[in-house]
Amino acid sequence: MKEQKQKNIFPMDFQWGVATSAFQLEGSPAADWATWDPVLAGNPAITGHYGRFREDLKLLKELGVNAYRFSIEWSRIQPREDTWDHGAISHYQEIIDILRGYNIEPMITLHHFTNPRWFAERYPWHRSKSIEKFLRFTEMMVSTLKGVRYWITFNEPYVILIGGYLEGCTPPGEQDVPHSLLALKNIFTCHGKAYDIIHRYVPDAQVSIAHNMSVFAPWKKWNPLDRLLKKSANYFYNHSIITAFQTGIFIVKFPFSRAVEIEVPIKGKLDFFGVNYYTRIHLRFNPFKKMGVELRHLDIDGHGLTNIGWEVHPRGLAKVLRYASRLNLPIMITENGIASHDSQEKVKYMKKHIDVIEKCLRDGLNIRGYFYWTLIDNYEWLLGFDARFGLYHVDFETLKRSPTAAASYYTYLIQSRSSL
Ligand code: BGC
Repeated sequence: MKEQKQKNIFPMDFQWGVATSAFQLEGSPAADWATWDPVLAGNPAITGHYGRFREDLKLLKELGVNAYRFSIEWSRIQPREDTWDHGAISHYQEIIDILRGYNIEPMITLHHFTNPRWFAERYPWHRSKSIEKFLRFTEMMVSTLKGVRYWITFNEPYVILIGGYLEGCTPPGEQDVPHSLLALKNIFTCHGKAYDIIHRYVPDAQVSIAHNMSVFAPWKKWNPLDRLLKKSANYFYNHSIITAFQTGIFIVKFPFSRAVEIEVPIKGKLDFFGVNYYTRIHLRFNPFKKMGVELRHLDIDGHGLTNIGWEVHPRGLAKVLRYASRLNLPIMITENGIASHDSQEKVKYMKKHIDVIEKCLRDGLNIRGYFYWTLIDNYEWLLGFDARFGLYHVDFETLKRSPTAAASYYTYLIQSRSSL
């Protein structure tokens, strides 16, 4: 009842979307990840999306979204250093054209975790040559693809750095702090320069990164070391990037170590801020763990844990959106979703998070879009094919797509929030 009495607060041009990444849907034999995770050897084409994209794009129309975030698989465009695959470029152009035909605004991610194998072998992110290679790819994309205003340069740069250079569980599989700092400098230098290139070709472009934000909490509130970890993690993971976009300087400070300052040409190089939000993480000081930190998901508020063990914590979305609003820019929630085999759990997750967004809009936050992760079940990094984030279920034997209850619920939400 309350809902009916209040005027709809979502702006008429609010972007209601879904987000995907190319590799997670279609794989790519020339990508570094193709050989990184052995599970991919058994199912290299994953959902077969590369061939079935027309059918999958129809699902977007069926859902009634007005925006779609997807990525370009760099290793398909440039399978070898000296080879541009024009067929692959036309493929992504066709996606854009179909979206435009459906009145769906495309948002392109240039880099969503995967690299061409030649790049990973010769120019990994900690080498300065990586900058020139990524910018060539960027320029090729913005100069040839027509009809795209929204660009994300990098998906979750910190996740690339933590997984690839500190934990070593993702390519290039290093545990090397100096290399991680070089990679940070190079990736963000790429962002700053790509921002200018994109604006040169697309004067009204809207450019951002998609930054993964999480809420952190001490495992034991009474433990000062757990509280210290929470403070450091919150500063580094959520705030240092915001400050760097304001000042051009990253201040990297891990507990029990000296702060390092890294200058990067990104001051003001953002038109909106993309936030990926999923969960809250509890932290415990444990001298036997890497960097003295142990992470855990606890079901403190009773919203439950997802299929992959993440805490459902809708309130945290409001928190990170408030942090993001320090930038005084429009905010887009470029990813939010749940891994579950239970459709009703997906419906609940979506409703709770969209309610939080509604409340934040009433509080005056400048939120311009929401992209549900994700359209159809896909490959989840290091977890295989069972994480099931999709609005549509995929049978990985037959590749049949079937709607979950969350698909029709999203359609209902979009319709009810798009009217006055
Ligand atoms: C990534 C996605 C991933 C999702 C769920 C995000 O951090 O951008 O690629 O599938 O989280 O883990």
